[in-house]
Amino acid sequence: MPIAVAETISALRTITADARATGSRIALVPTMGALHDGHLALVRRAAEMADLVIVSIFVNPLQFGPAEDLERYPRSLAEDLARLEPLGVQAVFAPTATEMYPTGASDTRVTAGRVGSLYEGHTRANHFDGVLTVVSKLLNIAQPDVVLFGQKDAQQVFLVKRMIVDLNLPVIAEVVQTVREDDGLALSSRNRFLDTNERRAARGLSLALEAAESSADRGLEAVLAAAQSVLMGEHFVELDYLTVVDPESFLPVDGTHRGRAVVLVAARVGTTRLIDNGAIYLTDNHS
Ligand code: PAJ
Repeated sequence: MPIAVAETISALRTITADARATGSRIALVPTMGALHDGHLALVRRAAEMADLVIVSIFVNPLQFGPAEDLERYPRSLAEDLARLEPLGVQAVFAPTATEMYPTGASDTRVTAGRVGSLYEGHTRANHFDGVLTVVSKLLNIAQPDVVLFGQKDAQQVFLVKRMIVDLNLPVIAEVVQTVREDDGLALSSRNRFLDTNERRAARGLSLALEAAESSADRGLEAVLAAAQSVLMGEHFVELDYLTVVDPESFLPVDGTHRGRAVVLVAARVGTTRLIDNGAIYLTDNHS
C-alpha cells in the first residue's frame, strides 16, 4: 500500500478515525524530515508497537530562533517517503506552517519551565517552548496511543515526558537509543553540512562521551576532565557546553552524586551545531 500523505489536519483525522473504528493501535513518530537511520529506528520500533504508524514531517518554525538554521534546514519529502515506504508506514502527516499555525506564531504555548532554559534552552532561547507546543499540537491532532522519541535529544525526551505527566496527556512515550555512524558520530540531519575536516573532528563528541564513561569510576571531576581534554584536542570543535546531569531532575550533579547520570555535550563544528549525550554510572570507588 502506498503511504497516504495528509497535508491537512482533517485529512489525517479521517485516517486516524478509520483506524480507531477498527480498534487499531496508533503510533506517532514526530520528525522534521531529512530522515536518516536514526529516525528509521524510531519508525521500526513504532511498527512493532502499533497497527497504524504515522510519521509527521514538519520543520517547526516555533522552535527555531531568529538567528538559527530554519531556512537552511534540509527538506526532502520525496526522499523521505521513499525511505518510509519499505517500513510499513501507512501515513505521513506533512502540514504547511499555515495549517499548523493559521493565526501566525501561536499565542498560546506550552512552557518548558526551568529545565527548558538550561543547556540547549540556554543557547536556544524558547526552543523547548516551541518543541513542546508543536508536540502537544501533534498529539492532539493524531491522538496516538504511543509517541516515539530518540535518546539523541535527551533534554527533549525529559521535557516531553514531563509535559505528558504535567498535562495528563493520554499517551505513552517510547524512547529509542541513539543510532550512530561506525566511528560513533550520532546520526543527525545536520551532519550533511560537515566538510571532510569537520566530519573527522565531529567524532570528538562521541569520543568525549566514551572518555567520560571510562572515567566514571574516578568521579565527576575526572569525567569532566577526560571529556574536556578530548574536545580540546579537536581543532574544528568549539565547545558550547559539557555538563553531567541527574536523569531524575535533569539538573547538574555535584561531586556527591552517586548512581546514574547523563553527560550532555554540545559543540559547534564549523558552522554546524551538534549535540550528543551518554549515560554514566558514578560510584563511590574513587573516594
Ligand atoms: P528531528 O530532529 O527530526 O528528530 C526526530 C526524532 O528523531 C527525535 O525524537 C530525535 O531524538 C530522533 N533522532 C534524531 N537523531 C537520532 C539518532 N541518531 N538516533 C535515534 N533517534 C534520533 O526532534 C525533532 O525533530 C523535533 O524537535 C520534533 C520532536 C519533531 C518537534 O518538532
